[in-house]
Amino acid sequence: MSILSTKLSRLKPSVTLLLNQKAKSLIKEGIDIIPFGVGEPDFDTPDNVKIAGIGAIVDGQTKYTNADGSIEMKKAIQLKFKRENNLDYNLNEIIVSTGAKQVIYNLFVATLDAGDEVIVPAPYWVSYPDMVLLGGGEPVFVNCDKNLKLTPQLLEDKITSKTKWVILNSPGNPSGVCYSDQELRALADVVAKYPHIHVMSDEIYEHIVFDGLKVKSIAQVAPELKQRIFIVNGVSKSYAMTGWRIGYGAGDEKIIKAMVMIQSQSTSSPCSISQAASIEALEGPQDVLKKNAAVFQARRDEAMRLLNASPLLEVTKAQGSFYLFVDMQKAIGKKTPSGKEIKNSDDFSLFLIEEANVAVVPGSAFGYEGFFRLSFATSMEELREGCNRIVTSCNKLS
Ligand SMILES: Cc1ncc(COP(=O)(O)O)c(C=O)c1O
Repeated sequence: MSILSTKLSRLKPSVTLLLNQKAKSLIKEGIDIIPFGVGEPDFDTPDNVKIAGIGAIVDGQTKYTNADGSIEMKKAIQLKFKRENNLDYNLNEIIVSTGAKQVIYNLFVATLDAGDEVIVPAPYWVSYPDMVLLGGGEPVFVNCDKNLKLTPQLLEDKITSKTKWVILNSPGNPSGVCYSDQELRALADVVAKYPHIHVMSDEIYEHIVFDGLKVKSIAQVAPELKQRIFIVNGVSKSYAMTGWRIGYGAGDEKIIKAMVMIQSQSTSSPCSISQAASIEALEGPQDVLKKNAAVFQARRDEAMRLLNASPLLEVTKAQGSFYLFVDMQKAIGKKTPSGKEIKNSDDFSLFLIEEANVAVVPGSAFGYEGFFRLSFATSMEELREGCNRIVTSCNKLS
């Protein structure tokens, strides 16, 4: 009998592992690797938020809070939903967790039984399928259309009597796509036809949107489905607070209660100090949101301009998040200077790390071949250098 559980054997080893190892060994050799794989803003947490965290330590807010988060934090989240999304949630419909990641994990552990299906549109954020598996369910993948979006037909084709959740992520990681109100409405119309299915709407990149776009939650667009929509959000990306580990969820009181039970028997309350800082993030000055989004937008434009110089690459314009999802299918079948054939996105990413010393994430990690993800959460200088190196390397493929 193995000491490791069988549920662990259902998880797939990360395809990015090899690339990470390669990047690490090159860095050790003193080679300057440009990190385009990162999934966190390179900005510092705003000063007012840091000061609130320090204040919480000095004031002695260093004890457990309620397992589902402090009342003050939950009130700040309640106000945020009202102010920004015009959504009303009672406090018992909100949970605060150790990052959005724990919210999603709790949600699937709380609601999935063996055989329950979760529709995961690809390209997807890497953790969704494994979280579904850890929760005991089955991820059901659906390839998005050429715009990297789930359409009503694609969704409906995958619905079975076992479907419990559909995952939506707008703005999306890795695609950068945002769903319009009409697109959300059309998806909601499909969901409305099947009373047994629920929507998990991951809105963690809500504030990182470009060109004046305002992204709505599906719960705003389809208020009649609110009880069947579970919103995931957090402070990690919007307020550059990835290390503080605060995320939150809002949805049906029954589901929240079950998630709180899991949380109270695993990690207990999220960090008291981080909660105090997150209250300041949500309630303090909000100009940082627009400021950061404008910086990301300028980088997106510059990266697109530079990458478009390669005839082998096609860049989908990101409407939000801080990723470009780049089509590299024209490089498939080409040979590297050392004679190796590029067969897929893994080969291409390995080629980029060896030839350009640039680390990107292959589309295979997101269940979507023929693409790679480039994060522009790096300085403009690094971005320019890295994109130029990618284009130069692509020119060497024959
Ligand atoms: C789409 C998506 N959801 C959730 C998360 C997790 O966020 P957190 O750091 O708050 O756990 C990430 C982080 O990369 C993400 O990209």
